[in-house]
Amino acid sequence: MAPHRALQATSLALIACGAWGASTALGSPRDSVARDSAAPRSAEGLAAWREVYSVLTSPRCINCHTATNHPQQGDDRHRHFANVVRGPEGKGVPALQCVTCHQESNAESTGVPGGHGWHLAPLSMRWQDTSRKILSSTEVCRAITDRSKHHDLDGPGLLKHHEEEPLVRWAFQPGRRIDGTARTLPPLAHEQFVAATRRWVEAGAPCPGNR
Ligand code: HEC
Ligand code: HEC
Repeated sequence: MAPHRALQATSLALIACGAWGASTALGSPRDSVARDSAAPRSAEGLAAWREVYSVLTSPRCINCHTATNHPQQGDDRHRHFANVVRGPEGKGVPALQCVTCHQESNAESTGVPGGHGWHLAPLSMRWQDTSRKILSSTEVCRAITDRSKHHDLDGPGLLKHHEEEPLVRWAFQPGRRIDGTARTLPPLAHEQFVAATRRWVEAGAPCPGNR
């Protein structure tokens, strides 16, 4: 898989160089080529990214993507009650594991949200700083496209994660709070979020401010 992809990348690069060589030979500046083909695609991709970013940084997602040693709760993203901490693998500490309270699905009677494999995202996947300020669109985009920072998810891998990961899906069916009121939803429906991710990935996963 990986060598194959590398090969594809190389041949793409060769084609690109060939095209560049040809266009300079013909005297047409390289920029106009880029403007004609790459730019609209990248503008579309960036528009799709803005939608993706609006979801990633909504409370239902970002409460698990923290920069601190604890998860957050609620739309005001306050510190998780009971002094719950991250622990070595984001799963809490032996005395207070996430899964002691968080089950496979929402417990509507008690207001404890649930989903398979409930735990905190690693610090490398934080989308806010230690004072809870949400990272900029460029920063979050760079973080999730930097394959050294996560489990080597490429574009299709991210798309699959957004489509299928139970903790992502939970955010779109977050159940009721302890007081019985419904948790608020991310700004897009799950389907729209997946579609936006697909458009962004298909446009080459561009990040704002990269050029
Ligand atoms: C003592 C039980 C308990 C433990 C242990 C626990 N939680 Fe919770 N958690 C809850 C309850 C109850 C709520 C619901 C609070 C509410 O809605 O007011 C909650 C809410 C949350 C939310 C908020 C959802 C939202 O968007 O508002 C997140 C995120 C969360 N927990 C993550 C974790 C993680 C990660 C761990 C382990 C490191 C963990 N919890 C450990 C009981 C627990
Ligand atoms: C209950 C906690 C929790 C919630 C809620 C949650 N995540 Fe995550 N997220 C994680 C964990 C844990 C990982 C790391 C998974 C792993 O180690 O394989 C992760 C990883 C990711 C990654 C891959 C890492 C990266 O930087 O590329 C993406 C993308 C992601 N989550 C998106 C989302 C989105 C979108 C939402 C909301 C719709 C969301 N997450 C809600 C816990 C959560």
